[in-house]
Order: sequence, then structure tokens, then C-alpha cells
Amino acid sequence: MPALPTREEPNYFGAGPALLPIDVLQQAACDLINYKGLGLGIGEISHRSKEATDVINKTKANLRKLMNIPDTHEVFFMQGGGTTGFSSVASNMFAASHGKGKGAYLVTGSWSLKSVQEAQRLNVPCEIIYNAKDHNHGKFGVVPSNNDFKITAEDNFSYCYICENETVHGVEYQELPVLPAGVELCADLSSDILSRKIDVSKYGHLIGQLSLRTTLPTTPSPFSLCTLWI
Ligand SMILES: Cc1ncc(COP(=O)(O)O)c(C=O)c1O
Repeated sequence: MPALPTREEPNYFGAGPALLPIDVLQQAACDLINYKGLGLGIGEISHRSKEATDVINKTKANLRKLMNIPDTHEVFFMQGGGTTGFSSVASNMFAASHGKGKGAYLVTGSWSLKSVQEAQRLNVPCEIIYNAKDHNHGKFGVVPSNNDFKITAEDNFSYCYICENETVHGVEYQELPVLPAGVELCADLSSDILSRKIDVSKYGHLIGQLSLRTTLPTTPSPFSLCTLWI
């Protein structure tokens, strides 16, 4: 068998997918061919086998430890990348409010815009309560502070959605929206999850695209999305 390829440790600051350490990639290459001496790769065995289930459970436990995820939140992995997260946030939050609550969207760039468009496509009741273009000469480029939008308990919102780091338009929230009781904060952290410490307890629902940050986006991977759910 040829020796595993290697490379100079690169410096790379792409806004989307993150670098992975070379030894992690080499281990992944080995595990794709022969996982733990099974004679088969991890992508070839049943996704319900003990070995595959152990990988998922261990990853969840490690993530809980790393991010200090409280017991109030469930961790689950889904296929479909960030865009599927837009649909699942809207449809699940609507279902969680028993069809009564609306989504309040803060639109600050192309990803939060796509997310509200997905909610509209699914006929989930929602409103854009802040559009950054209205505050920056028709262009994205700013994020709201808490004085820039209003959301009250009487508005019948069940969740408020933000994209915490707009990868394309390069804006990131420095403070989280303060919301009335009963309105859950839902956030897309696809491009900044695990880049800094976050207080998970502040979020009702959080999507983080592990495929952008911690695995390979070009690999169809069941670990592509992490949703934390109260
Ligand atoms: C912040 C953010 N949200 C969502 C997405 C969409 O992810 P996907 O391309 O996996 O659908 C991206 C992709 O780069 C992103 O940067």
C-alpha cells in the first residue's frame, strides 16, 4: 500500500470550511479503509452497527464536554448541511408552538435571508423584524443592537432567528438579542461554531454545521449538522 500522503502544515483562513490537522486526516483515511481492524471502512459498515453507534455517542459526549452543553439541550446530527437546518428550524419551531407562534427573523446577510425565505416557502408564519439593508444604504454590512428592533410578549413570536456569523457578508453579532420570556433564540452558527466559547444555555435551538467546521464539507457525512434543542 502507498504511504499516506502528507503536506506542509498550511496557513489557511477561508471564511467557510476550516483546516483539519494532518494527523486527523490521516487517521480518517485509515478508518475509511479498515476501521478498528474490521476489514471494512467506517463508511461501509451498517450505520446501525455497534461500531457506528459508538462513534455517534462518543462524538456527542465529546461535544457536550467541549461546549459545556447543559442537560436541557439535546444534541443530534443530521444530513443536509446548513440549508436543511433552515427548514428544520422553521418547521420544528412552528410545531413546538403547536402551530400558534410566529418566527421573528433578523436579516443581516445572505444566509439569514435564505433562512426566512425557506420559512416563507414552507408557509411557516414569520416576519422580518429587522433588515440590515434598511440601516446601511441598501446594503448588508451591519448587525442590530437591541435598540434597533422591538419584540414584545404580545407579538406572539415563538422564536427569534439570527445568523450569528454571516459568512458571505462578513458580519458577526457581538451581543445576543434580548428576548421576552417564551421567545426562543434560534441561531445559525454554521461558520463560527467551536471558534470561541459560547453559552449554550442562552439558545433554544442552535445549528452548527460540523461539516464546515470540523469535518469535510465535500464528504457526505452524517455529522453535518448539530442541533441543540431544549
Ligand atoms: C452561516 C452559514 N449558514 C448556512 C450555510 C449553508 O450551508 P450548506 O451549504 O451546507 O447548505 C453556510 C454555508 O457556507 C453558512 O456559511
